[in-house]
Amino acid sequence: MYINFWYPIARVDKVTTERPLQAEIFGLPLVAFRDGQGAAHVLADTCAHRGGSLGRGRLEGDFIVCPYHGWQYAGDGRCMHVPSLADAKPPARAKVDSYPVEEKYGIVFAFLGDLPEAERPPIYDVEEYAQEGWKSELYTLELNCYYQRSVENGLDPIHNEFVHPMQGAPGMDAEAQSKPLPMTKIPWGNKFWMSFKETRDPNTDVSSQRGESQNSAGSWHQGPNQLVTWIHFQTAKFGEAVFHQYFFEQPVDESHTRIFFLNMRNWMLEDDKDERVRDVTLRVVGEDIGILEKLRPVRTPESNAKEVLLTGDAAVVSYRESLRDWDRRGWRIDSKTLREQQKGTAFAIPCPDRRKSGNWVLDSVPLMSFPG
Ligand code: FES
Ligand SMILES: [Fe+2]
Repeated sequence: MYINFWYPIARVDKVTTERPLQAEIFGLPLVAFRDGQGAAHVLADTCAHRGGSLGRGRLEGDFIVCPYHGWQYAGDGRCMHVPSLADAKPPARAKVDSYPVEEKYGIVFAFLGDLPEAERPPIYDVEEYAQEGWKSELYTLELNCYYQRSVENGLDPIHNEFVHPMQGAPGMDAEAQSKPLPMTKIPWGNKFWMSFKETRDPNTDVSSQRGESQNSAGSWHQGPNQLVTWIHFQTAKFGEAVFHQYFFEQPVDESHTRIFFLNMRNWMLEDDKDERVRDVTLRVVGEDIGILEKLRPVRTPESNAKEVLLTGDAAVVSYRESLRDWDRRGWRIDSKTLREQQKGTAFAIPCPDRRKSGNWVLDSVPLMSFPG
């Protein structure tokens, strides 16, 4: 996993003024809550005093209160009150990492890293979100696999024909499969977009309006954990029908991923179609999950020589090249060292404040260094 990107933490309605919400990213504990004004905050969930879990505590006005000895922290991560010190000021070291937060698409995102604002890779911009003529649904998916495997699956157009034959998924004929994928570089990612013909009769309610037609589709990633798939097809009844799917992926740990899946469409907008769309969409997702949870190795291999990659895997290769890019920037968490030392040391992903002030109690996560 990489620091210095935005990660989805929870649905907005799960982050409340009532009680803290614990979350885990790459095996590191985080806590989310809202202050008295309703602003969401995401902090490292390890009290600077003696390591209590703030997420097990309570909220009091603007503060989150550690359950162990009652230290009170503000949303910016600073401890504002220590009960055992009466009215004396808490020590300067009494602070925990607080991450920049944004709420978008019904999701609370946290920027997990220390880059200053102007240098941060963005949250993907879904232009059609909440626009007239569009419908969105947000699903939360739990997968027993590493998030990079799931992103790579979305960048792989050939699997559709084999994994989703019953769902009328867009297929590519053999000739199209043998040609190199038309890759383009986009900011913080790689993209392909292509035309294709239906290769079989659609077989579900959702797609039964299609027929033989010229369609187009593509996928791209932005950063390591944001994946987009657009499918555009012509229908006799609806004209151009479009699904835009956005996957915001949370690496819970090396073998668990939580995906916040925003599914947008510009047709079948009536509420009574939601269930049908959800049903088919989640059936397709379930088929992917069945494959992903059995891939070996669990994590994406370090070297492409450990697989046999063909032209149809070009988007996967491009994704891995981007990851190498972020490796060279020193943004990759050293998972081996982290796991070896985690029992004896409390770690946190560094927040932007670490570039401005020192004296932190929690150690910053170990990062890998690669030759530039
Ligand atoms: S460990 Fe949190 S107040 Fe003591
Ligand atoms: Fe799939």
